[in-house]
Amino acid sequence: MEAIEEEGPLGKIIRFKEVGSTNDIAVSLAEKGHPNGTIVIAESQSKGKGRLGRAWHSPPDANIYMSIILRPALPPDDVTIMTFLSAVSCARVIRKETGVDVRIKWPNDLMASGRKMGGILLESKSERGRIIFFVVGIGINVNMKEEDFPLDLKAIATSVLMESGKISKKNPIIEGITDEMFFWLDVLKKGDRASIFKNWKALSDTLGEDVNVMTPNGLIAGRAVTVDEKGRLILKTKKGELKIISAGDVMVLRKEEK
Ligand code: BTN
Repeated sequence: MEAIEEEGPLGKIIRFKEVGSTNDIAVSLAEKGHPNGTIVIAESQSKGKGRLGRAWHSPPDANIYMSIILRPALPPDDVTIMTFLSAVSCARVIRKETGVDVRIKWPNDLMASGRKMGGILLESKSERGRIIFFVVGIGINVNMKEEDFPLDLKAIATSVLMESGKISKKNPIIEGITDEMFFWLDVLKKGDRASIFKNWKALSDTLGEDVNVMTPNGLIAGRAVTVDEKGRLILKTKKGELKIISAGDVMVLRKEEK
């Protein structure tokens, strides 16, 4: 696997043509002590990983596949805030760079027109109650055409190109996301978690909607009311009960499905 290394403004950028998964590479580099801010980027992935053990479709050239090593001084409880911080960073930059109305589906799917445009996979290692490192893996469908998505993704996935009608340069998005992540990490360092949640809520496509959530304990239906300070989704069922959800897959019900 040949890599090209360059010095980025916030750390080393290591670019590959093809890898199994940029997250796997970044985790193994982090284990070897590579510093905060190291970024692994690939043109394609043969074993791209998604949330909940799923695969991430990663064909060559069209899209962004990147993983950032972060070493913030945070207790393990703060994994959730990193999920929110990463989603806010990605959504804000894609909006700024491409004009696409990107929204966030709880906890961190990047959505446009109700379809998935990107996703974030967070991995972390902690020891003795401290986080040693995070790897934030980001996949964004940038210049994919509708006909290039496999059949099972066609109805549920989208790309910047499909939404904007324009080919976008990937580097400004990659650089923008890195800068934005460090901006929000500074906000977090100052203890201002409220700003991160406020920005997440402003970009959410989930809150206020009727949703079905597939949780490890089965399907829960209700109106998404808010997220709490731990990032858990609070649903109000038709009977008026409040349900607190820590993990699951949200399906936002559009008008005709209600
Ligand atoms: C999701 O399921 O929504 C998360 C998808 C995350 C995909 C990215 S692509 C770059 C990085 N490397 C991986 O193997 N996965 C993440």
